[in-house]
Amino acid sequence: MFKIALLPGDGVGPEVIREAVKCLDVVGKRFSLELRFQAALVGGAAVEATGRPLPPDTLELCRQSDAVLFGAVGGQKYDGLPRELRPERAILDLRQELGLYANLRPARLFLPLIAASTLKEEVVRGIDLLVVRELTGGIYFGKPRGIEPIEGGERAVDTLIYTTAEIERIAKVAFQAAQRRRRKVTSVDKANVLASSELWRRVVNGVARAFPEVALEHMYVDNCAMQLVRDPRQFDVILTENMFGDILSDEAAMLVGSIGMLPSASIGAKVGIYEPIHGSAPDLAGKDKANPIAAILSGAMMLRHTFGQEEAAEAMEEAVANALERGYRTPDIQSPGTTLVGTTQMGDLIASELSEG
Ligand code: IPM
Ligand code: MG
Repeated sequence: MFKIALLPGDGVGPEVIREAVKCLDVVGKRFSLELRFQAALVGGAAVEATGRPLPPDTLELCRQSDAVLFGAVGGQKYDGLPRELRPERAILDLRQELGLYANLRPARLFLPLIAASTLKEEVVRGIDLLVVRELTGGIYFGKPRGIEPIEGGERAVDTLIYTTAEIERIAKVAFQAAQRRRRKVTSVDKANVLASSELWRRVVNGVARAFPEVALEHMYVDNCAMQLVRDPRQFDVILTENMFGDILSDEAAMLVGSIGMLPSASIGAKVGIYEPIHGSAPDLAGKDKANPIAAILSGAMMLRHTFGQEEAAEAMEEAVANALERGYRTPDIQSPGTTLVGTTQMGDLIASELSEG
């Protein structure tokens, strides 16, 4: 039996998680997996109900589950809250509390979507890259941090820290992933300016010695941002620190048509978190317009990485590909000659592809 904590959260989170669960139920039956779901409050929804973005009950449920399927958190109506009560705090605390230092964000082009990318077809055809983002360190968590009054105004501090051990463990994840892929790691840093990047580069070089069959290159983050739109097919695994990974993974998502397509896995300890990277998109919420595919593909990543069910994971990915092949599109990936469908219908179509096998 696999215990899955469902944290739908805010905005389009609940709608896309509903479709992911629909598909997981079908895949569970087909492959005789016993998947048990239990839902809990997180983000703005939790602030409204309990006054806290990550209530203790929710954290406890996650700890006692095998995996977490996470929707999205945040929304303009929470912008005025103090930093510690903002919905985003929930996902940051969850990552840290559960020890999930490795964030995997694969970007692969589904061929039927080639026209949905804003880039030329010959640039994006065949994109298949994986961003491996460090997730519990760097400027997101470093101390001191805060804003204090000074004469004539205020002063704000954030601290960017990395230790050898933190860099080593994330580098290993990237090299191991590359072994199963096209055996190339591009380590992204800003070693021409930042001390943390100087250490990053040195430690990554050390880890690389244990993986002689994997090619390693180093790239400055500004150059990487440019290379991603110039020639994205040069990349296999991109290894990078927390904030650079946040930025570059949004960019990578758009290369393959829509941020509504990209799943993610946060792993490194017992309980993994699986979530679409698109966020809460409050303007789309409740309109049956959100693309559920990133959430459904996050479910597939959960089957693969936490439950070791490769075949079931591939079946889900194939069902997504088939629905796209048949011309069905949510608004974010629509192009001339395709059939527009809503969130629920896209989920139904993928679920029925799955049950037909
Ligand atoms: C992401 C998001 C989060 C992050 C936010 C919601 C805190 O942008 O998962 O990429 O910055 O890590
Ligand atoms: Mg982000």
